[in-house]
Amino acid sequence: MSKPQDATNVLTLSPVIPVVTIDNAADAAPLARVLLASGIPTIEITLRTPAALDAIKAIASEAPEMVVGAGTVLTEKDLSAAIDAGARYALSPGGTPKLMKAARKASIPFVPGVATASEIMRGLDLGYTCFKFFPAEQLGGATAIKSLGAPLAAARFCPTGSITPEKAPAYLALKNVLCVGGSWIAPAEYIKAGDWASIEAAAKRAVALR
Ligand code: 3PG
Repeated sequence: MSKPQDATNVLTLSPVIPVVTIDNAADAAPLARVLLASGIPTIEITLRTPAALDAIKAIASEAPEMVVGAGTVLTEKDLSAAIDAGARYALSPGGTPKLMKAARKASIPFVPGVATASEIMRGLDLGYTCFKFFPAEQLGGATAIKSLGAPLAAARFCPTGSITPEKAPAYLALKNVLCVGGSWIAPAEYIKAGDWASIEAAAKRAVALR
């Protein structure tokens, strides 16, 4: 059995993790059910809105098959709040030494963000092997990850940041990429409009990417 800190299991649930910034917690469980029915069993709720923690709670209690993660986890306090709300993994755009050390002892996997070889090496030193590569497109995209993988073969990545359905296959073809993250599947405007059909269509297309 893998350690609770090992993020590989959650990052291989779906080729694409929908990154969701939610304004109304009441939308969370219906959204989770649409994604589940479309073949996506995981979702990242970013801690960028006041509704985020309640959204995680709603998914954990009303759609328990959904493996809900918390994104934009910037501090130990964010991590504790996410765990208390029912998050089953957490991601960050970066990783302070303080947060990365604390998260090694957490009950859920934590995926720190990286942008450089040195940041990956610091994470590997602390026992991390899975990293969010952010912001992926701006950092050089799939070719950058391929280059980093040559000297840093132990590292695995979930790239996010301006990835589109057209760009995703180049990332997913790399052996050191476990999945990609992106907001295109469930953007805030679709959620606000209750446009579940568009979310379902985007989710089904994403499932077919790998
Ligand atoms: C993230 O926080 O992971 C990124 O902002 C993903 O969002 P994007 O797909 O809109 O870049």
